[in-house]
Amino acid sequence: MSMLEKLEQLNKLRAQIIAGGGPKRIEKQHEASKKTARERIELLCDPGSFIEINVFAGDSSTEKNDYPGEGVVTGHGTIDGHLVYIFAQDFTVTGGSLGRIHADKICEVLDLAMKTGAPVIGLNDSGGARIQEGVDALNGYGKIFFRNTIASGVVPQISVIMGPSAGGAVYSPALMDFIFMVQHTSHMFITGPAVIKSVTGEEVSMEDLGGALTHNQTSGVAHFIAEDENTCLSMIRQLISYLPANNLEEPPLAPPREPAGDPEELLTIIPDDPNRSYDVKRIISLIFDGGELLEVHPYYARNGVIGFARINGQVVGIIANQPNHLAGCLDINVSDKISRFIRFCDCFNIPLVTFMDVPGFLPGTDQEYGGIIRHGAKMLYAYSEATVPKITIILRKAYGGAYLAMCAKALGADSSYAWPTAEIAVMGPGGAVNIVNREQIAKAENPAAVRAQLVAEYREKFANPYIAAARPFLEDVIDPRDTRKKIIMALRALVNKRESRPRKKHGNFPV
Ligand code: HXC
Repeated sequence: MSMLEKLEQLNKLRAQIIAGGGPKRIEKQHEASKKTARERIELLCDPGSFIEINVFAGDSSTEKNDYPGEGVVTGHGTIDGHLVYIFAQDFTVTGGSLGRIHADKICEVLDLAMKTGAPVIGLNDSGGARIQEGVDALNGYGKIFFRNTIASGVVPQISVIMGPSAGGAVYSPALMDFIFMVQHTSHMFITGPAVIKSVTGEEVSMEDLGGALTHNQTSGVAHFIAEDENTCLSMIRQLISYLPANNLEEPPLAPPREPAGDPEELLTIIPDDPNRSYDVKRIISLIFDGGELLEVHPYYARNGVIGFARINGQVVGIIANQPNHLAGCLDINVSDKISRFIRFCDCFNIPLVTFMDVPGFLPGTDQEYGGIIRHGAKMLYAYSEATVPKITIILRKAYGGAYLAMCAKALGADSSYAWPTAEIAVMGPGGAVNIVNREQIAKAENPAAVRAQLVAEYREKFANPYIAAARPFLEDVIDPRDTRKKIIMALRALVNKRESRPRKKHGNFPV
């Protein structure tokens, strides 16, 4: 064969791979409001930056090609100039099912990402283990799970569900740091509706069982929801803009911007009546650059708010109680949500800024039987373990164990400030007088009036920031309008913070 003939053969083979499962299957994919793997990569990466690797893996090097590209496109590209490694399953090739070489291609992406210190983005759209390949497919999953675990805390791993993700296949996304889902076209479940019906008799639709809303709102498996694939891919680009490439780098700096709105509003957001709620996100928007917060898990455990923001151009992870929901109490789900976020930020050198207004742990048998003790312990563990700069601002209530769990000084907060509205005490005034003054209230002619009087006295005496400040558990009690300045100065002072822990294999996180 001459060079020209060889080039012709090369082009033919390449065209066959790029064609994936062929025009009919591509049409079916589009009819289902889904894009092909290559279309998704093009939208995700900077134009022209994607370089495919292992192009001819598997049968792709022959003209008799049942599995073009082995059902997955792999390589690296850039997002706003930052290198990322990508694998994108191609549903048009045997339903994106995972065989041995498909798995090897994904493993190589994970290995290269770890070697080069770049984030991994996996676009999942797959019918699961390729049935024809049996245990080879299972082993392939195992190799991916192993690498996801080893890569955890080394490079950010982002998983995007853009079609089915069923059976054990859901565990690669679950081992990664963030899961995006697309409304109506993505589904995740361990056992499908048919199996559930045959085992339990329960009828459930695929959407209710494992759709994007279910996992963003109810199960907490997914962190982000997008209305369509275009929006999803641009949300991923936004997330990447906050993240360092790996655990040895700092998050990228951006030009500083002023917050949105008038800081004077900070004086009026917290109601004078301590039993009334407010939206803590309003406070956040008045403190951070551009008033922007990339909220993680916005629909799950809404009694806590977590997300990424910038202050003076520097990326921080924000954790806040949300008084608007369950009065901002800590419960099982919010403990899981917050503690995993703390650990992500600590892995990737993102300082933590905590806003506290917490009346306590949520009372009730549901919580106790569900194990609030071991779930709440995760927050204590995660904050204590974290060595990134930790700044805590106490806005209002800071009661009991929940005060500690929201990064009190004792848990290693480097800078802790309180607003004058702060109430730092062992428990709320209502609970305290019920215990300490039980007899006095019971014997009173007008128990309600006596109780109200005692509550007011308790609040005056104990529920303020000055007892804690005197110990001193607080650096200062500040004017709310100075909060942004104080955080910026604290971060500046902590820029070279180095804190070590005893050498050990690893701790035993209370899962
Ligand atoms: C081989 C598969 C496949 C699979 C789909 N296909 N899943 N081929 N192995 N697992 C093929 C189909 O034969 C079809 O081929 C093409 O992909 C598209 O599939 P359709 O069924 O036409 O698509 P759709 O109607 O959209 O349904 C998608 C689906 C369904 C819901 C994913 O295909 C399905 O239920 N597949 C089986 C899912 C499953 O049980 N997988 C194994 C799970 S066990 P043609 O040639 O017709 O286009 C598992 C264990 C992992 O994954 C354990 C890890 C630890």
